[in-house]
Amino acid sequence: MADERLIAALDVPTRGQVEQLVVCLGDSVSYYKVGMELFYALGGDIVAWLKEREKKVFLDLKLHDIPNTVGNGLCSLLRLRPDILNVHTAGGLRMMQTASEALHHAADQAGIPCPKLIGVTVLTSMDAEDWAGLGHTGTIADAVLRRAKLAQEAGLDGVVASPAETAEIRRACGEDFLIVTPGIRPAGVSHDDQRRVMTPAGAIRAGASQIVVGRAIYASENPHAAAEGILKEMEAVS
Ligand code: C5P
Repeated sequence: MADERLIAALDVPTRGQVEQLVVCLGDSVSYYKVGMELFYALGGDIVAWLKEREKKVFLDLKLHDIPNTVGNGLCSLLRLRPDILNVHTAGGLRMMQTASEALHHAADQAGIPCPKLIGVTVLTSMDAEDWAGLGHTGTIADAVLRRAKLAQEAGLDGVVASPAETAEIRRACGEDFLIVTPGIRPAGVSHDDQRRVMTPAGAIRAGASQIVVGRAIYASENPHAAAEGILKEMEAVS
């Protein structure tokens, strides 16, 4: 079975490109992230297509609205049977609590396993200057840790955070808390718009449960070789 610690991001806009990438990655990758680009373009059909191929799906729509709207929004997504859903921790404790309760209740009613619910802490594309520009006076690292603890208090299963903050979160929130880390760049690969980055091995060593890799796989000349290289790098530290 493929190593579920690698989640490949399907940040491409067409069904044809998705099919080409998933076929190319074959049995090497069993977990995919469907984000807003693909979901807004193709809707739930693409999730169904992946599930039919027995792939797991992290539906990364980063819900951020009032508690009632987020709770109901998550319940509407449940019919797609995603394995991981997420909300933005910036919505606060009450929003996250409502989201978690609504999702668990809806899954119970439907008699299906509840997807994992995780919270986005601070986007990995943000650096200290971006953060200060929003009027925040503390550091990003402090905010991420605070938001991770809040997510745990609200009953969420974990967070999305940069690998740079992972070790602190692991210490504070314990071994069972999911930490999913984007901002992954194997050595020598462009950082693009990401600011807080780490290699696959570095992220796993820091305590990440799963890593999300987008451009370093789908924009590579040989996506299959790129994925295999990342898997090998992760195996070496486990
Ligand atoms: O191409 P790259 O590997 O940088 O893609 C990272 C993926 O992870 C993108 O789909 C992006 O939306 C997502 N993501 C992120 N930072 C977060 C949450 C999600 O980069 N905090």
